[in-house]
Amino acid sequence: MKSGLLCAAITAVSCAWAAPAVIEPGAVWLDTQGRPINAHGGGLLHDRGIYYWYGEVKQGRTYLPKVNQAWGGTRVIAGGISCYSSADLGAWKNEGIVLPSVADDPDHDLACENVIERPKVIYNARTKKFVMWFHQDSPNYAAARSGVAVSDLPTGPFTYVGSFRPNAGKRPLNGTERNVADGSNEALVRDLSGGQMARDMTLFADDDGKAYHFYASEDNQTMHVSELSDDYLQPAGRYARIFVGRFMEAPAVFKRGGKYYLIASGCTGWEPNAARSAVADNILGPWTELGNPCRGAGAELTFSGQSTYVLPIAGQPGRFVAIFDQWNKWDLEDSRYVWLPLTLDNDGQPLIEWQSRWTLSPGR
Ligand code: GAL
Repeated sequence: MKSGLLCAAITAVSCAWAAPAVIEPGAVWLDTQGRPINAHGGGLLHDRGIYYWYGEVKQGRTYLPKVNQAWGGTRVIAGGISCYSSADLGAWKNEGIVLPSVADDPDHDLACENVIERPKVIYNARTKKFVMWFHQDSPNYAAARSGVAVSDLPTGPFTYVGSFRPNAGKRPLNGTERNVADGSNEALVRDLSGGQMARDMTLFADDDGKAYHFYASEDNQTMHVSELSDDYLQPAGRYARIFVGRFMEAPAVFKRGGKYYLIASGCTGWEPNAARSAVADNILGPWTELGNPCRGAGAELTFSGQSTYVLPIAGQPGRFVAIFDQWNKWDLEDSRYVWLPLTLDNDGQPLIEWQSRWTLSPGR
């Protein structure tokens, strides 16, 4: 009797507090059906108590296309964008492919021979739509475009809107001055009429309802931060050049105490490099670099990972998870996930320390 009462008490407690998720960076992570989670270069969304994880489906044989032989960019057939859902950040239910690739039309933007990478989804309160942006590209990464899709539900299906090079015909807020002497804005000027190159990317939805698109541009030399239209479906036309000539990619942005922070990587394809971090008072810049936020063994190569997202834990201000991909360039489907706590020290320096096993409570 006594023990029965005790059990009931324990059950009640565990209902009120979801069990913390056990995170093992770099291990094979299984979904609730026991299959490896396939959601690379991903981004998360928190909506009504549920976390949604969107990512690239990398499936099948990894190959080195002829067009990429010079730079060694291996590929798999693009499998579209997957979605997983979880209340506790530990048990992930496969919600299926929410934006499929196209198998029978090689001219389609979403053709499986093409590149569909780094999806990010944000919610637009005005239109009540979930809006997805991703990196859309040709097999040799020469097209460098942004793809957009929308859905009424976080679990899709997403309707493909189209792709474009952002900010065609628009001049940036900074950096068009005649400094071509050092060549730093040649690619920008070249692409002013046709639209700017856009490869690795993220979205950031600010608390005033405005949203921003960060993308590696100008032949990957310089990043742009570009305000989105009110419906989040296109650029609003105001954009700034940041980290000029720094070859930064894999951007992930978060906000804390009124300041904007960015985690990113250098530009070495699937090979890891030292992470970068930066801070700004204004999202359009200027941004100040803060160096590699990683600490401890393996920090100089970002624990063999590359950033893709920073997740704020719902209802726990100041708690963040830094999310990286550990790419396996010869078997891309077997690329792994590295999630680690991200803290800000008293000087506002982002810090990420390696832990081989830790627990994460999901917040509410
Ligand atoms: C990386 C990029 C990845 C993918 C890869 C292809 O630099 O961050 O998203 O595009 O190159 O080699």
